[in-house]
Amino acid sequence: MKGYVILISVVAALGGLLFGFDTAVISGTINFIQPYFGLSEAELGWTVSSLLFGCIAGVFLAGKAGDRYGRKKVLMAAALLFFFSAIGSASAHSLSIFLIARILGGIAVGVASILSPMYIAELAPAKYRGTLVSLNQLAIVIGILVAFFSNYLLVNTGENNWRWMLLVMAAPAVLLFFSLFLVPESPRWLVAKNRNEDALNVLVKTSGKEFASAELKEIEETLKNQEESTFSDLLAPKIKPLLFIGIILAVFQQITGINTIMYYAPKIFANVGQSNDSALLQTILIGGTNLVFTLVAMGLIDRFGRKLLIVIGSAGMMLMLAGLSALYFTSHTSGVLVLVFILGYIAFFAASLGPALWVVAAELFPNRLRSKGMSIAIVSLWIACTIVSIAFPIMLEKLSGGITFLIFALICMANLVYVLKYVPETKGKTLEELEKEFDRKL
Ligand code: BGC
Repeated sequence: MKGYVILISVVAALGGLLFGFDTAVISGTINFIQPYFGLSEAELGWTVSSLLFGCIAGVFLAGKAGDRYGRKKVLMAAALLFFFSAIGSASAHSLSIFLIARILGGIAVGVASILSPMYIAELAPAKYRGTLVSLNQLAIVIGILVAFFSNYLLVNTGENNWRWMLLVMAAPAVLLFFSLFLVPESPRWLVAKNRNEDALNVLVKTSGKEFASAELKEIEETLKNQEESTFSDLLAPKIKPLLFIGIILAVFQQITGINTIMYYAPKIFANVGQSNDSALLQTILIGGTNLVFTLVAMGLIDRFGRKLLIVIGSAGMMLMLAGLSALYFTSHTSGVLVLVFILGYIAFFAASLGPALWVVAAELFPNRLRSKGMSIAIVSLWIACTIVSIAFPIMLEKLSGGITFLIFALICMANLVYVLKYVPETKGKTLEELEKEFDRKL
């Protein structure tokens, strides 16, 4: 039974892996696609961000299509999109084809960013749900590391190197597509489609015979409540503050600058005078640090709580960014120090805001409004991510690294103050207990 649930979670988390891979693979290609397509800094920003526009559309599509056709079928469609995006962007000879292919990939990322964790949450027995959902963040981070690593291995394959880097994604996309045949449809969706018997069969396999019918009843109950909810319910006086917390945290997760490093690290290294080879090697260190400290966070998050982790993490991120900014101001942009501050920044992010945002976003909303509240928060995340990714190369060019990283350091400080003041601690309580607690407080 456990093996079956783990298999399901791993298959769904492959969606997270592709999410990480597809968003980060671009970093290794920018120093080659910029001259190939003749892009200015502003055009580079738009090209890198093209995928993110797809993400925003994907999140909306995922909710609707996922309810209509089932989580599994829509994840399969996303796998196909990942595949065609890999082939299309790798073989593009014009910027427009490249952009269309990246936008298609973005739709798949948006879909995966909602449906993978949702599908895992819907299939996992309650007592493993938290850990299994975190597996998705772990998969994102592994995807990023795999992208950095394969970019490094492929950098010396000649003028088509960036094409090979993008093509690699076709492999996990095919794996995701075929492995989805091994897993069942979500029981919650089956119940929604009045296929209660099929749902019961799945539940017997995931939770065991003795719990299956009780779980089926519970699903029927929550579903009844969910059907009655609409997006405007999120604006009810008791829910609105939670919605704001979700949106603001998601936006802070992005505007504290994480993806300036994840998407543009080789550019930063080139900016301080390093070669492409050593720049790509250093991104592997970034991906590795990200992975190790995500594991650290998974070990700490239920003990220390989300709030303490975010507070310590934001303070650390702020110091590291201030250090990076100071290096630019004093022209001490020696390779080692730049790397130390960047790795320190990544470590603090990965141990705090990285996983904590996804955990809090999933805990904050009452059962009946969870998927709606979460999708608004995650759309805000992608919009913020898009804006930062468009703005970053322009900021670097027009404001210099010193001022750019100082701005991100100040945003980390604002995040710290906001979290201390407004974000409730959610560790160690059941979702129903949290619901009651918020109800009393607000
Ligand atoms: C963020 C992504 C980011 C990744 C880095 C995720 O939590 O949402 O935007 O690229 O962490 O590890």
